[in-house]
Amino acid sequence: MKTTSVHGMWSSRLMFVLAATGSAVGLGNIWRFPYITSENGGGAFVLVYLGCIAVVGLPILFSEIVIGRRGRMSPINSLKELADDAGASRAWIGLGWLGVIAGFLVLSFYSVVAGWTLAYGFDYLQQLVVGAPPISDPGQTFENMLASPGKLIFWHAVFMVLTVGVVALGVEEGLERAVSVLMPTLFVLLLVLLGYGMSTGHFQEALGFLFSPDWSRVSGSMVVTAMGQAFFTLSLGMCAIMAYGAYLPSDVNVPRVGVAVAFSDTAVALVAGLAIFPIVLSFGLDPEGGGAGFIFTALPLAFNEMPFGIAYGTAFFLLLSVAAWTSSISLLEPPTAYFVEATNFSRKQIAISVATLTWLMGLLSVFGLNIWREFTLGGKDIMGAIEFLASNIMLPIGGLLTAVFAGWVLSNRITREELDAKMPAWAFNGWLWLTRVVTPIMIVIVLLGLIGII
Ligand code: TRP
Repeated sequence: MKTTSVHGMWSSRLMFVLAATGSAVGLGNIWRFPYITSENGGGAFVLVYLGCIAVVGLPILFSEIVIGRRGRMSPINSLKELADDAGASRAWIGLGWLGVIAGFLVLSFYSVVAGWTLAYGFDYLQQLVVGAPPISDPGQTFENMLASPGKLIFWHAVFMVLTVGVVALGVEEGLERAVSVLMPTLFVLLLVLLGYGMSTGHFQEALGFLFSPDWSRVSGSMVVTAMGQAFFTLSLGMCAIMAYGAYLPSDVNVPRVGVAVAFSDTAVALVAGLAIFPIVLSFGLDPEGGGAGFIFTALPLAFNEMPFGIAYGTAFFLLLSVAAWTSSISLLEPPTAYFVEATNFSRKQIAISVATLTWLMGLLSVFGLNIWREFTLGGKDIMGAIEFLASNIMLPIGGLLTAVFAGWVLSNRITREELDAKMPAWAFNGWLWLTRVVTPIMIVIVLLGLIGII
């Protein structure tokens, strides 16, 4: 059993929690959660999503950490070694490769959206510093940005360079520094926005929209989306947390850190929702208007009215970019760690190559917003289609395989030792039962429903 990884180690338990929370908390919470909640009609969707976090997300989160920490290598090689040890088929490395491909697809569009937040951050910064004109018609401003491939490509590139910079530096120097100060700051900022949301007089109504379920809205596609969001927001299903688990010191209690990560991630999403929907309602916008531009068209309205709104807007979009940054790092880490192990190239060369390829892939999403606008797949633009394929199909399949691997391939002795040797029997058995049976069955049912939808 290895106690360290060649890629470096987290310096403490807190560092892992910060890094894993940094991976989990990102555009998924503040951009994606509000917009898909809006498109799916609120209450019932939110409750199904919370159910998925508890029943599907948590067991898989534990499983990924356990597999990563036991293997102590890149996901692909950890899976290979653990499968060998257990006498199972080497085909399990396919899960690692599926993760690499899913991560590549997610990062390709994630970086484009992170580019939007950078562009907005820069716009507000100009308003703040050189007195550039405010965003008076946010809908139009957003449209104009999408219509400009040059601008989108530029910010997509800036974001990718920032991401690759951290990954190239490696675990201790790169990842840890980025997460320890900035993430807590973003949370404070969200609380301020929540305070503003509460002062609009539409807080009650927003609470109703977010939490009182209209069960008639439940449908196959809604459940697929809710489960996809649970995977996306917790960074599960593509071995990213597995890669981070490999750097986790052996004495850290996995259930405790796992629950801390899932709890913070869910709290951020809910606070973001509670902050944003009152604003949407108070400006008379349609809470079910949805669309990928949801926060970009709604929030500037509030920033125009709030005291110190420009300074706030600057900080908000820049910190949201940071949150996206700490997430994208985790998307790039699994393939980078693998190629570091498998080739003689340096970490830097590898990180740059993977990022360049991903950046090129992202151009498809960019052009789908403007020059290839007419091109749609299943009613979605290119970015929407990639987003759907990666988060709603590939991540759940990856999660299913992860649960089966942790539950059935690894011996109970290993999983118990890794989870927490002193864990009470009922807790271990509960996890085992969820991971072996409940979680896989739920995922299969949802994915079968998806076949019906397509
Ligand atoms: N969880 C991040 C967010 O919510 C995005 C992310 C990072 C991710 N790593 C991932 C999504 C791995 C899926 C898989 O913004």
